[in-house]
Amino acid sequence: MHIPAWVLPQAGTVKNLQEYLPIMSLNLTYTHVNKIFGEQSKNPVHALKDVSFAIEPGELFCLLGPSGCGKTTLLRSTAGLESITDGQILYGDKDMTLIPPFRRNIGMVFQSFALYPHMNIFENVAYGLRVRKTPDDIVRKKVTEVMELVGLTEELKRNPSPTGLSGGQQQRVAIARALVYDPDILLLDEPLANLDAKLRRYMRAEIRRIQKATNITTIFVTHDQEEAMAIGDRLAVLRKGVVEQIGSSNELYTRPNNAFVSNFIGKMNFFNAKLTGQGKATIEGTQTEISVHPENVRFSTNKGVANGSSVLLGARPEQLEICKERTSEGIRGTVQIIQHLGQFVRYEVVLDASVSEVSMEIDMPYMVEGVFERDSVYVKVKEGLPFLFLPEVRN
Ligand SMILES: Nc1ncnc2c1ncn2[C@@H]1O[C@H](COP(=O)(O)OP(=O)(O)O)[C@@H](O)[C@H]1O
Ligand SMILES: [Mg+2]
Repeated sequence: MHIPAWVLPQAGTVKNLQEYLPIMSLNLTYTHVNKIFGEQSKNPVHALKDVSFAIEPGELFCLLGPSGCGKTTLLRSTAGLESITDGQILYGDKDMTLIPPFRRNIGMVFQSFALYPHMNIFENVAYGLRVRKTPDDIVRKKVTEVMELVGLTEELKRNPSPTGLSGGQQQRVAIARALVYDPDILLLDEPLANLDAKLRRYMRAEIRRIQKATNITTIFVTHDQEEAMAIGDRLAVLRKGVVEQIGSSNELYTRPNNAFVSNFIGKMNFFNAKLTGQGKATIEGTQTEISVHPENVRFSTNKGVANGSSVLLGARPEQLEICKERTSEGIRGTVQIIQHLGQFVRYEVVLDASVSEVSMEIDMPYMVEGVFERDSVYVKVKEGLPFLFLPEVRN
């Protein structure tokens, strides 16, 4: 049960969020959820593989992963729009597996906005209340309040059709429409993907503000890691239907479970290397042994990863440096592109020994004197800082 959350200050003026928190938000639990599309067909698609995790009451939780990894399927399964093949989805302690979508009190927002062009914005937002046979005076009150929350009070006075609004305003209408009947859970599927870059960044903060003001347990789906890191209390990284890791942005960035997560959350440069001892490895084609902080060894060495095993040494752009002079630990490469990005200078370098010609990204705090595009340079890995991963086995 939510207390009516719409006794809220004007958009953008929420100061002390605690004052406006509804009494109770739901937690969401997934246990061993599997979804197989076309189970009986010749080409079944195992879209969700043994997904188990929990979302806290009032949490703004992001599902992040490349296209086709199962984000929409998990969201639609949560809403009951897709029936799961196996496992359980609980709202609070209530198993929802067999409850149809119209009996789940859910608000949904899609990438396409999906507003009704033949209705004015008032009726678009009022729709969920009309369906619930809400009396007129309450409809008016709630629509007014929710439009204030999303910052559309002036537009509501004019009350045009949604086609008369900008993309950002249409998205706000879509959010208002999903919130107006006090849903237990809010589900947002790439809601910012159709907006231009600047508006997208602005709306991130707006969605976070609105979600924190209402405290409705929310899942936000995106394939954009920067968006997920900016918006979510916690994130789940999905790959091919599998939850690879769950944590805060900071946890995923500083302690990625594997090479995939490390390169999905921020940039990671990879070197093929051989394990030479505890937290030590030698990059292929070099003689230099690199030491890694024990916490950055992201596998357990007692699982048959013996000295001499192939590993991946991962280094973030700021964990590498370049110099013009040859040194014993430097790895030779050629500068492709130099970009001055304000706080740092990004060098894209292809190692001479690289077969794949994938370029390394190296961020230097300053322009390196005498180094230009197409020059030969030496790349050095800073001691202690990089990560060691097992080579990726799953493709
Ligand atoms: N209705 C469907 N029938 C068959 N396969 C589907 C269906 N919906 C999604 N899939 C497949 O399930 C996988 C996950 O899709 P989806 O959840 O839409 O991914 P995402 O939202 O992360 O891009 C994909 O391989 C997709 O092709
Ligand atoms: Mg999708």
